[in-house]
Amino acid sequence: MEEFVNRIKNECQTLADLEKIRVEIFGKKGILSEGFAKLKYIPEDEKKEFAALLNKQRDELGALIETRKSELSELEVALKMKSEAVDVTLFNEPISTGALHPVMATMDRIIEYFMLQNFSLETGPLIEDDFHNFEALNLPKYHPARDMQDTFYLNDFRLLRTHTSPVQVRTMLANKPPIRMIAPGTVFRRDMDLTHTPMFHQVEGLIVEDGDKVSFANLKSMLEQFLKHMFGDVKVRFRPSFFPFTEPSAEVDISCIFCQQEGCRVCKHTGWLEVLGCGVVDPNVFKAVGYKNVSGYAFGLGVERFAMLLHRVPDLRSLFEGDLRLMEQFK
Ligand code: PHE
Repeated sequence: MEEFVNRIKNECQTLADLEKIRVEIFGKKGILSEGFAKLKYIPEDEKKEFAALLNKQRDELGALIETRKSELSELEVALKMKSEAVDVTLFNEPISTGALHPVMATMDRIIEYFMLQNFSLETGPLIEDDFHNFEALNLPKYHPARDMQDTFYLNDFRLLRTHTSPVQVRTMLANKPPIRMIAPGTVFRRDMDLTHTPMFHQVEGLIVEDGDKVSFANLKSMLEQFLKHMFGDVKVRFRPSFFPFTEPSAEVDISCIFCQQEGCRVCKHTGWLEVLGCGVVDPNVFKAVGYKNVSGYAFGLGVERFAMLLHRVPDLRSLFEGDLRLMEQFK
């Protein structure tokens, strides 16, 4: 008895220790159970006294254990609090996070829009050959329209693609109609001034259906919805234009988002901003990829142009200088 009292009060330092002692006393093979089991061998006249003693020990030890248990659990909580304490006054090194480049963020927005409209995402090589970049797009050798796109040539007659339109050709060669695709990517032209950089990004779109299912009207409503999604409540205008791979072709303008058509520097006082090129796919393109009895339309847009308009960046070149002061504003 003495021994147990001492162990409970002084020796045991954790709830687990205490539990061990409790089992030694109260467990099935504990000393109390053994004591009560012995009762039946005890002479009748001593039985009462012995039983009373056992009961007393049971009550006292039980109470002792309960008391120690609450002491120990308080102690354990206190220890835990101490070891897990957080010093909220500690100096915290600020974490510097990156941000998506505005051109990539804009590209993602455009891609997301078309993915939700069930367009597939296609890619092609940056180094192209004459066939995919020009010939198959109705731009035969020595055709003057090739001058529309100043080209970087490699020594082996290959070239850096001047637009994403070769991905149209590759996708049609590899698949049967119908086609419903976009092709985002990097393109290259020998050009450098306030509004041109030798490397920039385009998103191409192409829809091809069997028969004469699609028309310029479909193209028009599809692009109108897209441009309203990107720029909000703008007016959209289609202007006749020329691309060798589309006929008819159009350039698309939106009403100036900077001056509400009052006239400003960005729209050069015209009230309109040119945002993309498009048209009904020229039959010669379908011929080059072996498609018969189909109709389709295509469009191509410059992602930098969209990013500049959406984020009001005045000089295209600043998007490529990697100046952190500019980039930090896009977090
Ligand atoms: N490829 C054209 C360009 O880079 C854009 C375009 C694509 C126009 C598809 C019409 C159809 O200027």
